[in-house]
Amino acid sequence: MMSKHFHYLNNQLHAEQVPLEKIASLYGTPCYVYSRAALTESFRQFSDALKGREHLICYAVKANANLAVLNVFARLGAGFDIVSGGELQRVLAAGGDAGKVVFSGVGKTRDEMRMALEADILCFNVESAAELARLNEVAGSMGKKAAISLRVNPDVDAKTHPYISTGLKQNKFGVAYTDAIDLYRKAREMPNLKITGMDCHIGSQLTETSPFIAAVEKVLWLVDELAKEGIELEHLDLGGGLGICYSDETPPAISDYIAALLSALKGRTQKLILEPGRVLVGNAGLLLTTVEYIKPGEEKNFAIVDAAMNDLMRPALYDAYHEILPVVREEHEMQTYEVVGPICETGDFLGHERELAIAPQSKLAIMSAGAYGMSMSSNYNTRPRAAEVMVDGDSVHLVRERETVQQLFAGEKIVV
Ligand code: LLP
Repeated sequence: MMSKHFHYLNNQLHAEQVPLEKIASLYGTPCYVYSRAALTESFRQFSDALKGREHLICYAVKANANLAVLNVFARLGAGFDIVSGGELQRVLAAGGDAGKVVFSGVGKTRDEMRMALEADILCFNVESAAELARLNEVAGSMGKKAAISLRVNPDVDAKTHPYISTGLKQNKFGVAYTDAIDLYRKAREMPNLKITGMDCHIGSQLTETSPFIAAVEKVLWLVDELAKEGIELEHLDLGGGLGICYSDETPPAISDYIAALLSALKGRTQKLILEPGRVLVGNAGLLLTTVEYIKPGEEKNFAIVDAAMNDLMRPALYDAYHEILPVVREEHEMQTYEVVGPICETGDFLGHERELAIAPQSKLAIMSAGAYGMSMSSNYNTRPRAAEVMVDGDSVHLVRERETVQQLFAGEKIVV
């Protein structure tokens, strides 16, 4: 979707004050472009809505892990939600504060636990009994105490795409609701753990507040039960998941979402942690691409572009919709196109049935690509990953160079 940070001026699509055509000619395509102002604005909407309440906004690094993006949020006071040792290293390299990091994920290895304990992260979001035991052992071996929260699976329907719904009983995430109390009792007996919170995350791209509220209510019931047993929590982590507008969705505004959460929390004083990813970065980024060929077909016209499913996997993987806009409004015949990449798979499409006035060499912007775009990209078909650029007012910064093919096989060897 267009936002005020991506807009047309004299028929030229701009990122803030910079024409995208200029970025394409400076850095080539495919190229991800992020707006610093858009990143800042979405983060401020969270912090403004939470003013006066003890809170920590832990940006979900997986949505977009570029160091420049992480650094923008670190400067604004963000914490980070990580799911691997690699993400922790990125946060530290970007100037993030380890003391504001929460570590989620069902498969933390011993090495990752050690690295996070060494860095003194804020909290481990533990997802199983086995992980609890492993963390206790690893922390003990280092003479440390690990701060933990249990990620509880509240068994609520997030009403989103099944691949990104995580809070149902049948999902692999979190500990079963009915086991949670018992696991907290066990954790209390473990000498190298310190219980500090409770956590839940029910899915991604939610466009209604009601599933969040249902989850909060279930979490609060557990919090009260624990309090009766003398287990007092310092923080509640309600995860991420707030959706964005890709085409015609109408997700709640950040301020309305926060207001709904705060009212569901009914005056609780625990520190509130959130793990937003997509809503902070999704509409702050786009993917620039060039039309290589126009291929008229018997049934469909194809616009073959130089970006592909390896650059932006969401259409192929989730059948996700991303708006596709011309970078320059040119005078060509308006036609309906299948916008596809060069990869050898029928699933390699970026958009179906798009009305566009284009010719070879026209540039296109694939919108709403700031979240789960570059971070899910691959090198399929030995395609070097795209360049990434951050625009800040009228200045343009290359924040990741385009990969070279040499880098791709640098670690490979021929057997003689
Ligand atoms: N916290 C946890 C524990 C998560 O698993 C996730 C996302 C988030 C926070 C951030 O959720 P968000 O605010 O971004 O919805 N690749 C998919 C989305 C996968 C989301 C995975 N977990 C996509 O492109 O739609």
